[in-house]
Amino acid sequence: MAQAPRGAETTEPVLVVVPTYNERDNLGPVLDRLHKALPDAHVLVVDDGSPDGTGELADERAAADERVHVLHRTAKAGLGKAYIAGFRWGLSRGYASFVEMDADGSHAPEDLPRLLDAAGDADLSIGSRYVPGGSTVNWPLRRQLLSRGANLYSRFALGLKVSDMTAGYRVYRRPVLEKLELDEIASHGYCFQIDLTRRTADAGFDIVEVPITFTDREIGQSKMSGSIMREAFFRVAEWGAQRRLAQLRQLLGR
Ligand code: GDD
Ligand code: MN
Repeated sequence: MAQAPRGAETTEPVLVVVPTYNERDNLGPVLDRLHKALPDAHVLVVDDGSPDGTGELADERAAADERVHVLHRTAKAGLGKAYIAGFRWGLSRGYASFVEMDADGSHAPEDLPRLLDAAGDADLSIGSRYVPGGSTVNWPLRRQLLSRGANLYSRFALGLKVSDMTAGYRVYRRPVLEKLELDEIASHGYCFQIDLTRRTADAGFDIVEVPITFTDREIGQSKMSGSIMREAFFRVAEWGAQRRLAQLRQLLGR
């Protein structure tokens, strides 16, 4: 793949996309930490009409700080749809790097410079819990098992050498998002992360994993649900089957 000039990435415009649903008590402290860790980065809060007033808080922050932007969506349509809307917003405004980050403090903003540095040598940099040095803190055993299980299952089904495929702390360099057909991405929930990982790998882009510590939220609730798990299970099975079929076709020379 043709490589864009590398280095000095952190001085290029960075957009941190933060999807929110009922994160009113978490958003402020995360934005404060982010501005401190990376003063030049812009933030786009993508709020799905949170009933707890997260969207209004984001508006107040945006009115007071030109680095903060808000995208209001009318209904809770899933993490994947929120990110796609956020990426489109940023692509039309010339940002060079796109960060995915949760609003609940699980992703330490202080880790972002390291993630961005790694993205200087790759097209996608993943903040990974499952490479040496990475970890989870305070995560209930049920969630640890679910996450490990989802990663094992996805690796087996998709045959990709990525240790944390469901990770939600990442940096995409602009060419990746320009090349991927965002219109084709149907994933609503957290399987969006797996979906984008496989699309990025299939398109021939370089992926690096950077160890991070994921700390469970202290305030509010996770939006993980049975339907999010089911969506991931069935979609990964489908992608895996498609992949095997394509490999078989190639093997048979047609
Ligand atoms: N706009 C919008 N719409 N935001 C959402 C939605 C939605 O439908 N669902 C979740 N979010 C936001 C939350 O408000 C939070 O900022 C972020 O997305 C992550 O949601 P959590 O509910 O806190 O996720 P989690 O902690 O259970 O899961 C984490 O681990 C998963 C598995 O590794 C996240 O990092 C996921 O991205 C990751 O896939
Ligand atoms: Mn969380």
